[in-house]
Amino acid sequence: MSSLRIGPRPFLLLCRFTLATVILNVATGAAVRLSDSGLGCPDWPTCSQRRLTPPLSLHPVVEFGNRVVVFVLVVACAATMVAAFLRRPVRRDLRWLSGGLILGVLGEAVLGAFVVYSKLNAYVVMVHFMVGMGLLAVSVVLTLRAGHAAGRGTLAVDRASLWLTRALLALIVAVMAAGTATTGAGPHAGGKGAKRVPIGLEDMSRIHAEIVLAAGVLLVVLLWVLWKSNAPAHNQDAGRILLAVMVVQGIIGYTQFFTHLPAVLVGIHVLGASTVWATALWFHHGLSDHRAEPEDAGSPGTDPGATSGLRPEAEPTVHAGNGSGAVVEPV
Ligand code: HEM
Repeated sequence: MSSLRIGPRPFLLLCRFTLATVILNVATGAAVRLSDSGLGCPDWPTCSQRRLTPPLSLHPVVEFGNRVVVFVLVVACAATMVAAFLRRPVRRDLRWLSGGLILGVLGEAVLGAFVVYSKLNAYVVMVHFMVGMGLLAVSVVLTLRAGHAAGRGTLAVDRASLWLTRALLALIVAVMAAGTATTGAGPHAGGKGAKRVPIGLEDMSRIHAEIVLAAGVLLVVLLWVLWKSNAPAHNQDAGRILLAVMVVQGIIGYTQFFTHLPAVLVGIHVLGASTVWATALWFHHGLSDHRAEPEDAGSPGTDPGATSGLRPEAEPTVHAGNGSGAVVEPV
C-alpha cells in the first residue's frame, strides 16, 4: 500500500468527479422533495421488504435514484480521502479538506435521518440544505486547490476588491439561508403534515429577493472597483460570469414565484443556487495567483510541504503586474 502513489493530475480528476456527484446529489435530493417521493422506498437499504430495486413507478424510482447517487457520493468522497493520502507531493491542505468532506457527508446522512424522524420539519430541512451548501463549498475549494501548487498564492487585485468579495460571499450565504426559509414557508414540504416556517410566502420571498438585490448591487460595485483598479482581465471576466449566473438565477426565481412554484422550475432554481455558490467561490479563489504543480514535483521521500503546509516552490512571490500593491493573502 505504501508504495502506491497518485500524481496531481489523477487526483484532480477524482476531485472533479466528486464535485460532480455533490452537485448531482443536491439535484436528486431536490427531486425527491419536489415529487413528494421521500417515502417512495419504505425500507432501507432495500427498497421494500421483498425487493432491492424499486417497482417501475415515479416515487420509488426517484427515491431509489437518490439513494444510488448518495452511495456513489459516499464512495467518491472516501476514495478522494484515500487518494489524498497517497498523493505525491504530499499536501496537508488536501488531506484536511478531503477528510472534512467525507465526515461532512456522513454527518449530512445522519441529518437526513433527522429530517425523516422530524417528519420533514422545515427548520431541520433548512439546516440539512445549508450543510449541503457547506459541503459543496468544501468540494469546490478542494478541487480548486488540487489544481495548483500548495501555498497562499499572491493577491492579484487590491484589498478593497478582496474585502468586497468576502462581503459578497457572506451576502450569498444570507441569500441561500433566506431562500431555504422561503421554501420552508412555501408549498413544497416534501410530504403532508410537516411543520412549516410561520411567515407568509410572499413576505419571505420579498426578504429573499431583497437580499439578492443587495448582493447584485454589491457585485456591480465590485466590478467597478476591479475595473477602476486595473485588475487582471481574467478576474474581471470571472466577475461578469458571476453576475450573469446571478441574473439568470434571479430571473428563474421571479418566474417561479409568479407562476406559483411549478416543481420543475423550483428544481432548476435549487440547481441554480448551487451554481451561483460554486461560481462565487471560484471567483474568490481566482483573486490570487497560484503556481502550477509539476506532475513529477514530488519524488517519494521528499516532502517539504508535509510539516509547514507550504511548499518551497510555492512560497509567495511579489506580484507587480497591476499596481495593486502586491499583497500576499491567503485565498
Ligand atoms: C442569486 C439569486 C438567488 C439565489 C442564489 C437563490 C437561492 C435560493 C435557495 C437556496 C432556495 C432554497 C432551495 C431549497 O431550500 O430547496 C431558494 C428558494 C426560493 N427562491 Fe431563490 N434564489 C435567488 C433568487 C431569487 C429571486 C430573485 C426570487 C424572486 C422572488 C427567488 C424566489 C425563490 C422562491 C419563491 C423560493 C422558494 C421555492 C420553493 O418553494 O421551494 N429567488 N432560492
